[in-house]
Amino acid sequence: MSDPKRVAILISGGGSNMLALVRDMGPDHPARPVLVAANDPAAGGLARAAGLGIATAAVDHRPFGKDRAAFEAALSARLEAARPDIICLAGFMRILTPGFISRWEGRMLNIHPSLLPKYRGLHTHARAIEAGDAEHGCSVHEVTAELDGGPVLGQARVPVLPGDTPDDLAARVLEKEHLLYPAVLRRFATGDRRPIRL
Ligand code: GRF
Repeated sequence: MSDPKRVAILISGGGSNMLALVRDMGPDHPARPVLVAANDPAAGGLARAAGLGIATAAVDHRPFGKDRAAFEAALSARLEAARPDIICLAGFMRILTPGFISRWEGRMLNIHPSLLPKYRGLHTHARAIEAGDAEHGCSVHEVTAELDGGPVLGQARVPVLPGDTPDDLAARVLEKEHLLYPAVLRRFATGDRRPIRL
């Protein structure tokens, strides 16, 4: 088997998707985690990753104010040092500029909590409930300059139940996210872009 692909994971919060990816990247996996980075030094996922022996980095976006390019230059410096083949956005809540995206295009994935192309952006669970949808879910897609608009590589569906609150739905979708993202990465790391349906 060729050398495993090097994966960097970007997070902003607790990192439950990051953990699901890392736990799946065992000895038989075509990839391995080389860095977990966050735009918030207080992101709970950083300590969890460090606890698993993975290198971590915090690049706080706040000191850069509105200067996204400067923030991304600092982030890119930490990423370049880790030499990733693949970047996984996992609950990373900063919108990246086209300049940053073009650097990693074709090698960067994101998980989004809706059945894309429905409900790009935020508050996806509340929007699905408000619309009276019977089904909802999550998607893993390649990252392009179009927010939540890149090619979809996997989707998982869940029912919307009577009386569901956005939190109920978010919890049901998150369980599927933790299955879908590892399944897509395992395939993507071998160069296989056939969509996965769960
Ligand atoms: C997930 O629902 C993900 O789809 C969204 O943010 C949430 C983050 O969860 N982008 P976690 O930080 O991975 O636990």
